[in-house]
Amino acid sequence: VRIAILASGSGSNAEKIMEYFQHSDQAEIALVASNKADAFVLERARKFSVPTFTFSRKEMEAGTLTQKLLADKIDWVILAGFLLKIPDELTRSFSDRMVNIHPALLPRYGGKGMYGMHVHEAVKAAGDAETGITIHLVNEHYDEGKIIFQASTPVSPEDSPEDIAQKVHALEHEHFPRVIGELLGR
Ligand code: GRF
Repeated sequence: VRIAILASGSGSNAEKIMEYFQHSDQAEIALVASNKADAFVLERARKFSVPTFTFSRKEMEAGTLTQKLLADKIDWVILAGFLLKIPDELTRSFSDRMVNIHPALLPRYGGKGMYGMHVHEAVKAAGDAETGITIHLVNEHYDEGKIIFQASTPVSPEDSPEDIAQKVHALEHEHFPRVIGELLGR
């Protein structure tokens, strides 16, 4: 099974996933693609000798990314900190085989603008006692795809948004690679 990871930023999740499948005979990370030519995730891919591909939003919307994924015979697409809205034709090309991770407990804090520190600032502002991660399939309505896995962590009033981000990142790194492995095995 050939997996492509789409990421726009640092790629700590992408790294954990590449590590997890590095010696797997079940699946391989065949591509890391980013809409940012200077995204650190591309450095991480090179460290794992995973081919990379960069594209602009315009190119993605023109279908270039879909063509590349199909040409590379990609079976699953993993969004790991990918900040653009996936075009519907791409979602349709990988329906039920595109997975996203969201740094909150959907349906809370889903939707536009809820990325990066915004989510954790909102959790803090709301005074929630917990937050967590949601791993879900991606459909045309983005954060509303079928939820595959959730994990939570307590939030205390003293936590800063950065503290919350750190707890959430730890959950992501702990669970995302394994959940992908389980999905493929299903
Ligand atoms: C993660 O918090 C993920 O939930 C969100 O974007 C962040 C990506 O972090 N979608 P990284 O680039 O994997 O370090």
